[in-house]
Order: sequence, then structure tokens, then C-alpha cells
Amino acid sequence: MMEGNYSKNKFFLVLALLNMAATLVKGQGTRVGFYSTSCPLVESIVSSTVQSHLQSDPSLGPAILKMHFHDCFVHGCDASILINGPDTEKTAPPNLGVRGSEVTDDAKAQVEATCPGVVSCADILALAARDAAKGQKWDVPTGRRDGKVSLASDADNLPAFTDPIEELRRKFAAFGLNARDLVTLVGAHTIGTTACEFFSYRLFNFSATSNGADPSINPDFVSQLRTLCPSNEDGTRRVALDTDSVDSFDA
Ligand code: HEM
Repeated sequence: MMEGNYSKNKFFLVLALLNMAATLVKGQGTRVGFYSTSCPLVESIVSSTVQSHLQSDPSLGPAILKMHFHDCFVHGCDASILINGPDTEKTAPPNLGVRGSEVTDDAKAQVEATCPGVVSCADILALAARDAAKGQKWDVPTGRRDGKVSLASDADNLPAFTDPIEELRRKFAAFGLNARDLVTLVGAHTIGTTACEFFSYRLFNFSATSNGADPSINPDFVSQLRTLCPSNEDGTRRVALDTDSVDSFDA
């Protein structure tokens, strides 16, 4: 029961923090319903566009949520990750696996057809990330301005899977986020998949103890993970981050 309450509380904290992250933008003055007069249909256009893409490929949901995080971590949530060109953010190594821009491009085209020149790409990405997190809904303040700067080198501050916890704390602290915020936001890994290569190196030939695994991982969990990612398997094999509910943003 206590564990259930803890999960529930933690879950609502994730929503609150995602809401907060959605507000972490360069310009001030974002609010829910920013386009209620200038483009009243924007939220329904983005939502229906996202849903139609998810129907043909549900894996785009977590991909868009992750893209929003990778956008927000560099110059704030300003859609700088969507800018094309040599040496832009999207060409940086941490962003090479980022997918889903066809969905935001499609949503942008449809919004432009209804309200030309009104809605920023940054807002479309923030709304799409909310709609892509299937299973939940939260209010997204809008009114962001699009960034004009997009440099691959600026993506160096994105968290890496090899970062020790102190480094992750430091990177999040740079945005005014504390350790609790960090743990809560990482709760977004309740949806989507990961490639084996991001953790299988900790399962085999990692240490002289613990049967070769990282001794900091629970041995029962090591066995489960080894079944999912056998040592000789291709590191690009993908496994669910949250077993049994890979497409659902649940507790
Ligand atoms: C603490 C820092 C974080 C690290 C080191 C990290 C690392 C990773 C890694 C290694 C993957 C697997 C990528 C792949 O196989 O292509 C992943 C997936 C994902 N991450 Fe994170 N992440 C972090 C924080 C976050 C945050 C804060 C969010 C969102 C608020 C997020 C959302 C996601 C999602 C939704 C996926 C699944 C993507 C998919 O299925 O396509 N991550 N993350």
C-alpha cells in the first residue's frame, strides 16, 4: 500500500516536473492557452497529428518525449534541436538517435495551414511531447519563441549514460533542478526502449566479482537483463525500459 502511494506520488511529481520543464523557456510570459484567440485549434491539430503518427508507429511517442528533453537541455525549450544544417544540435553525437521530427514537421505544416506565422515550433514540440506521452495529459503553457542558434558543441552538456551521479546532479543543477527533480524526471523512462549497448557492458566482464557484472546492480536484476541482452547479441537490440508497458506513460 505504502509502495503504491509512493509510486502514485512519484508519478504526479513526474507530471509536475514535466510541466515545469515545459515552462523552462528562454522568454518569459508563457501561459496555458496563449493561442486561444490567435490559433484556437492549435492543440487539437497537434494532438490529432501526433495520434495519427502513433497509430502507425507507437515508438514515436517516447522518441518525441526524449526529443523534447534533448531540446530543453540546450538553450532551453526553443526547438533548436529541429534546425537543419551542418554542425547543428541534431548532428551532435548525443542527438544522433533522436527521432520524431517528421511528426513535428507534419504538425507545423498543418498548424501553418490554419494559422500562418503564429505558432512557434518550440510550442509545437512541447505540445507534441505531452500528446506523445500516451496515458497522461497535463497543461502545457505556450508562448515560447524559437531559438535561432543551434550548435552541435552546445549539446555536450546533455547527460550521458556513462555519467556518474555527481555529474548528472551537476548538469541538472545548472538548470536549477535538484537531485529529487533529477530522479523524478528520469521517471520519464517509464515509456520507450533502450538499446542493449547502453547497459550490457555492465553485465559482462565488468568486474572481477559478482560473476563479472557491476556489483552495484542487484544480482536478480542482472539475470533478467542478461536474458534480455545476451553477451553475444547485437548491441543495437532494443528492450523495453518498463517491462510490460513500453508504450504507456504509467506509474
Ligand atoms: C539523467 C539523465 C538521462 C540519461 C543519462 C538518459 C539516457 C537515456 C538513454 C541511454 C536512453 C536509450 C536511448 C536509445 O537507446 O536510443 C534513453 C531513452 C529515453 N529517455 Fe532518457 N536519459 C536521461 C533523462 C531523461 C529525461 C529527463 C527524459 C524526459 C523527461 C528522458 C526521456 C527518455 C525517453 C522517453 C526515452 C525512450 C526513447 C525511445 O524509446 O525512443 N530521459 N535515455
